[in-house]
Amino acid sequence: MSMLDSNYMKDTILRLEGVSKRFATKDGELTILNDVSFAIMPGEKVAIVGPSGSGKSTLLSLIGLLDTPTEGKIFIEGHDVTAQSETALAKLRNESIGFVFQSFELISPFTVYENVAAPLEIAKKSVSSESITALLGEVGLSQRIDALPVTLSGGERQRVAIARALSNNPKLILADEPTGSLDRATGERVLELLLRTVSERQTTLVVITHDDKVAEHMDRVFEIKDGTLYERR
Ligand SMILES: Nc1ncnc2c1ncn2[C@@H]1O[C@H](COP(=O)(O)OP(=O)(O)OP(=O)(O)O)[C@@H](O)[C@H]1O
Ligand SMILES: [Mg+2]
Repeated sequence: MSMLDSNYMKDTILRLEGVSKRFATKDGELTILNDVSFAIMPGEKVAIVGPSGSGKSTLLSLIGLLDTPTEGKIFIEGHDVTAQSETALAKLRNESIGFVFQSFELISPFTVYENVAAPLEIAKKSVSSESITALLGEVGLSQRIDALPVTLSGGERQRVAIARALSNNPKLILADEPTGSLDRATGERVLELLLRTVSERQTTLVVITHDDKVAEHMDRVFEIKDGTLYERR
Protein backbone atom coordinates (compact mmCIF):
# COMPACT_ATOMS: atom_id res chain seq x y z
CA MET A 1 0.00 0.00 0.00
CA SER A 2 1.33 3.44 -0.90
CA MET A 3 1.78 6.34 1.48
CA LEU A 4 -1.09 8.07 -0.24
CA ASP A 5 -3.49 5.22 0.49
CA SER A 6 -2.70 5.09 4.18
CA ASN A 7 -3.10 8.85 4.52
CA TYR A 8 -6.39 8.65 2.68
CA MET A 9 -7.62 6.01 5.09
CA LYS A 10 -6.54 7.98 8.10
CA ASP A 11 -8.31 11.14 7.03
CA THR A 12 -11.70 9.67 6.22
CA ILE A 13 -14.25 9.49 9.00
CA LEU A 14 -16.18 6.86 7.09
CA ARG A 15 -15.26 4.65 4.18
CA LEU A 16 -17.14 1.81 2.51
CA GLU A 17 -15.30 -0.58 0.25
CA GLY A 18 -17.30 -2.89 -2.02
CA VAL A 19 -20.20 -3.19 0.38
CA SER A 20 -23.10 -5.42 -0.63
CA LYS A 21 -26.18 -6.32 1.35
CA ARG A 22 -28.41 -9.24 0.45
CA PHE A 23 -31.45 -10.57 2.26
CA ALA A 24 -32.73 -14.12 2.04
CA THR A 25 -36.46 -14.06 1.34
CA LYS A 26 -38.95 -16.80 0.49
CA ASP A 27 -38.64 -15.74 -3.17
CA GLY A 28 -34.88 -16.15 -3.08
CA GLU A 29 -32.01 -13.82 -2.38
CA LEU A 30 -32.61 -10.11 -2.70
CA THR A 31 -29.67 -7.79 -3.43
CA ILE A 32 -30.41 -4.41 -1.89
CA LEU A 33 -26.94 -2.86 -2.08
CA ASN A 34 -24.47 -4.00 -4.72
CA ASP A 35 -20.77 -3.17 -4.41
CA VAL A 36 -21.14 0.24 -2.79
CA SER A 37 -17.95 2.26 -2.18
CA PHE A 38 -17.51 5.82 -0.95
CA ALA A 39 -15.50 7.91 1.47
CA ILE A 40 -16.57 10.81 3.67
CA MET A 41 -14.25 13.31 5.30
CA PRO A 42 -14.72 14.67 8.83
CA GLY A 43 -17.19 17.55 9.01
CA GLU A 44 -18.85 16.80 5.68
CA LYS A 45 -22.62 16.94 5.42
CA VAL A 46 -23.97 14.26 3.14
CA ALA A 47 -27.48 13.48 1.89
CA ILE A 48 -28.60 10.05 0.71
CA VAL A 49 -31.61 10.13 -1.58
CA GLY A 50 -33.42 7.49 -3.62
CA PRO A 51 -36.84 5.95 -4.13
CA SER A 52 -38.73 4.17 -1.35
CA GLY A 53 -37.34 0.66 -0.92
CA SER A 54 -34.04 1.50 -2.62
CA GLY A 55 -31.96 0.65 0.45
CA LYS A 56 -31.34 3.99 2.17
CA SER A 57 -32.24 2.81 5.67
CA THR A 58 -30.39 -0.45 5.03
CA LEU A 59 -27.26 1.56 4.16
CA LEU A 60 -27.67 3.73 7.25
CA SER A 61 -27.94 0.71 9.54
CA LEU A 62 -24.70 -0.64 8.06
CA ILE A 63 -22.95 2.71 8.59
CA GLY A 64 -24.47 2.90 12.08
CA LEU A 65 -23.11 -0.56 12.94
CA LEU A 66 -26.62 -1.85 13.60
CA ASP A 67 -26.26 -4.48 10.86
CA THR A 68 -23.33 -6.07 9.00
CA PRO A 69 -22.69 -6.19 5.25
CA THR A 70 -22.95 -9.45 3.29
CA GLU A 71 -19.74 -8.45 1.50
CA GLY A 72 -17.25 -5.63 1.69
CA LYS A 73 -15.71 -3.55 4.41
CA ILE A 74 -16.63 -0.52 6.49
CA PHE A 75 -13.95 1.69 8.01
CA ILE A 76 -14.55 4.27 10.70
CA GLU A 77 -11.59 6.62 11.10
CA GLY A 78 -9.52 4.14 9.12
CA HIS A 79 -10.36 1.18 11.37
CA ASP A 80 -12.02 -1.82 9.79
CA VAL A 81 -15.16 -2.37 11.84
CA THR A 82 -16.47 -5.24 9.74
CA ALA A 83 -14.71 -7.97 11.69
CA GLN A 84 -15.28 -6.62 15.18
CA SER A 85 -17.24 -8.35 17.93
CA GLU A 86 -20.78 -7.29 18.82
CA THR A 87 -19.44 -5.89 22.12
CA ALA A 88 -16.80 -3.79 20.36
CA LEU A 89 -19.39 -2.56 17.85
CA ALA A 90 -21.82 -1.59 20.60
CA LYS A 91 -19.08 0.41 22.32
CA LEU A 92 -18.06 2.16 19.11
CA ARG A 93 -21.70 2.84 18.24
CA ASN A 94 -22.34 4.36 21.62
CA GLU A 95 -19.18 6.48 21.65
CA SER A 96 -18.89 7.60 18.05
CA ILE A 97 -22.36 7.73 16.51
CA GLY A 98 -25.50 9.74 17.23
CA PHE A 99 -28.81 8.67 15.71
CA VAL A 100 -31.85 10.74 14.76
CA PHE A 101 -34.90 8.90 13.37
CA GLN A 102 -38.08 9.96 11.59
CA SER A 103 -40.22 8.75 14.51
CA PHE A 104 -37.92 10.31 17.16
CA GLU A 105 -37.60 7.07 19.20
CA LEU A 106 -37.52 8.79 22.57
CA ILE A 107 -37.80 6.70 25.73
CA SER A 108 -41.35 7.42 26.84
CA PRO A 109 -41.09 6.98 30.63
CA PHE A 110 -37.98 9.22 30.66
CA THR A 111 -38.10 13.00 30.93
CA VAL A 112 -36.52 15.24 28.30
CA TYR A 113 -33.44 15.55 30.51
CA GLU A 114 -33.20 11.79 31.06
CA ASN A 115 -33.52 11.08 27.34
CA VAL A 116 -30.62 13.41 26.56
CA ALA A 117 -28.50 12.00 29.41
CA ALA A 118 -29.17 8.37 28.36
CA PRO A 119 -26.23 7.95 25.92
CA LEU A 120 -23.83 9.19 28.62
CA GLU A 121 -25.34 6.83 31.20
CA ILE A 122 -25.00 3.93 28.75
CA ALA A 123 -21.36 4.88 28.09
CA LYS A 124 -20.88 5.05 31.87
CA LYS A 125 -19.59 8.60 31.47
CA SER A 126 -20.21 11.20 34.12
CA VAL A 127 -23.33 13.22 33.38
CA SER A 128 -22.86 16.93 33.88
CA SER A 129 -26.23 18.51 34.49
CA GLU A 130 -24.77 21.86 33.34
CA SER A 131 -23.87 20.47 29.93
CA ILE A 132 -27.22 18.71 29.48
CA THR A 133 -29.03 21.90 30.48
CA ALA A 134 -26.87 23.94 28.09
CA LEU A 135 -27.58 21.49 25.28
CA LEU A 136 -31.32 21.70 25.94
CA GLY A 137 -31.01 25.49 25.89
CA GLU A 138 -29.28 25.24 22.52
CA VAL A 139 -32.22 23.31 21.06
CA GLY A 140 -34.70 25.73 22.65
CA LEU A 141 -36.13 23.39 25.28
CA SER A 142 -35.01 25.03 28.53
CA GLN A 143 -38.63 25.28 29.62
CA ARG A 144 -39.38 21.59 29.02
CA ILE A 145 -36.47 19.85 30.76
CA ASP A 146 -38.70 17.81 33.09
CA ALA A 147 -41.45 17.13 30.56
CA LEU A 148 -42.32 13.65 29.33
CA PRO A 149 -42.09 13.06 25.55
CA VAL A 150 -45.85 12.40 25.27
CA THR A 151 -46.54 16.02 26.23
CA LEU A 152 -44.28 17.45 23.48
CA SER A 153 -45.06 18.44 19.90
CA GLY A 154 -43.39 16.60 17.01
CA GLY A 155 -40.87 19.39 16.47
CA GLU A 156 -40.05 19.47 20.18
CA ARG A 157 -39.58 15.69 20.26
CA GLN A 158 -37.19 15.87 17.33
CA ARG A 159 -35.25 18.64 19.06
CA VAL A 160 -34.88 16.33 22.10
CA ALA A 161 -33.66 13.59 19.74
CA ILE A 162 -31.09 16.00 18.25
CA ALA A 163 -29.87 16.98 21.73
CA ARG A 164 -29.65 13.29 22.63
CA ALA A 165 -27.69 12.52 19.46
CA LEU A 166 -25.21 15.28 20.37
CA SER A 167 -24.90 14.63 24.11
CA ASN A 168 -22.06 12.13 23.78
CA ASN A 169 -20.13 14.38 21.36
CA PRO A 170 -20.18 11.77 18.58
CA LYS A 171 -18.01 12.14 15.48
CA LEU A 172 -20.83 11.07 13.23
CA ILE A 173 -24.54 11.85 13.25
CA LEU A 174 -26.82 9.60 11.22
CA ALA A 175 -30.32 10.85 10.54
CA ASP A 176 -33.05 8.83 8.76
CA GLU A 177 -35.73 11.22 7.42
CA PRO A 178 -35.36 13.54 10.45
CA THR A 179 -38.01 15.92 9.15
CA GLY A 180 -40.20 13.22 7.58
CA SER A 181 -42.97 13.31 10.15
CA LEU A 182 -42.99 17.08 10.66
CA ASP A 183 -44.93 19.73 8.76
CA ARG A 184 -42.88 21.81 6.34
CA ALA A 185 -42.31 24.85 8.58
CA THR A 186 -41.42 22.75 11.64
CA GLY A 187 -39.23 20.51 9.48
CA GLU A 188 -37.32 23.52 8.20
CA ARG A 189 -36.68 24.77 11.72
CA VAL A 190 -35.55 21.34 12.89
CA LEU A 191 -33.25 20.99 9.87
CA GLU A 192 -31.78 24.41 10.53
CA LEU A 193 -31.11 23.42 14.13
CA LEU A 194 -29.50 20.15 13.11
CA LEU A 195 -27.25 21.90 10.56
CA ARG A 196 -26.26 24.64 12.98
CA THR A 197 -25.43 22.29 15.86
CA VAL A 198 -23.38 19.88 13.72
CA SER A 199 -21.55 22.75 11.98
CA GLU A 200 -20.60 24.33 15.30
CA ARG A 201 -19.14 21.02 16.47
CA GLN A 202 -17.72 20.06 13.05
CA THR A 203 -19.57 16.77 13.37
CA THR A 204 -20.02 14.69 10.22
CA LEU A 205 -23.66 14.35 9.18
CA VAL A 206 -25.25 11.70 6.99
CA VAL A 207 -28.92 12.35 6.39
CA ILE A 208 -31.45 10.27 4.47
CA THR A 209 -34.14 12.35 2.86
CA HIS A 210 -36.92 12.29 0.26
CA ASP A 211 -36.85 16.06 0.27
CA ASP A 212 -34.73 17.88 -2.34
CA LYS A 213 -34.87 21.00 -0.15
CA VAL A 214 -33.11 19.08 2.64
CA ALA A 215 -30.55 17.62 0.20
CA GLU A 216 -29.79 21.14 -1.12
CA HIS A 217 -28.32 22.06 2.26
CA MET A 218 -25.72 19.28 2.19
CA ASP A 219 -22.16 19.38 0.83
CA ARG A 220 -22.62 16.16 -1.13
CA VAL A 221 -25.60 14.19 -2.39
CA PHE A 222 -25.59 10.44 -3.05
CA GLU A 223 -28.41 8.61 -4.77
CA ILE A 224 -29.17 4.90 -4.48
CA LYS A 225 -30.75 3.32 -7.54
CA ASP A 226 -31.08 -0.38 -8.30
CA GLY A 227 -28.58 -1.23 -5.58
CA THR A 228 -25.92 1.16 -6.88
CA LEU A 229 -24.79 4.35 -5.19
CA TYR A 230 -24.14 7.35 -7.42
CA GLU A 231 -22.73 10.68 -6.35
CA ARG A 232 -25.05 13.35 -7.71
CA ARG A 233 -22.97 16.29 -6.61
N1 LIG B 1 -34.42 -7.78 7.04
C1 LIG B 1 -34.88 -7.71 5.78
N2 LIG B 1 -35.26 -8.83 5.13
C2 LIG B 1 -35.70 -8.79 3.85
N3 LIG B 1 -35.82 -7.64 3.14
C3 LIG B 1 -35.47 -6.50 3.75
C4 LIG B 1 -34.99 -6.47 5.08
N4 LIG B 1 -34.72 -5.19 5.42
C5 LIG B 1 -35.03 -4.45 4.33
N5 LIG B 1 -35.48 -5.24 3.34
C6 LIG B 1 -35.88 -4.80 2.00
O1 LIG B 1 -34.84 -4.04 1.46
C7 LIG B 1 -35.36 -2.98 0.66
C8 LIG B 1 -34.77 -1.67 1.08
O2 LIG B 1 -35.29 -1.31 2.34
P1 LIG B 1 -34.94 0.07 3.04
O3 LIG B 1 -35.72 0.13 4.31
O4 LIG B 1 -33.48 0.18 3.15
O5 LIG B 1 -35.48 1.11 1.97
P2 LIG B 1 -35.52 2.72 2.03
O6 LIG B 1 -34.77 3.22 0.85
O7 LIG B 1 -35.09 3.16 3.39
O8 LIG B 1 -37.06 3.00 1.80
P3 LIG B 1 -38.01 4.17 2.43
O9 LIG B 1 -37.68 5.41 1.67
O10 LIG B 1 -39.38 3.68 2.14
O11 LIG B 1 -37.72 4.26 3.89
C9 LIG B 1 -36.88 -3.07 0.79
O12 LIG B 1 -37.40 -3.73 -0.33
C10 LIG B 1 -37.07 -3.90 2.04
O13 LIG B 1 -38.28 -4.60 1.99
MG1 LIG C 1 -36.06 4.09 4.97
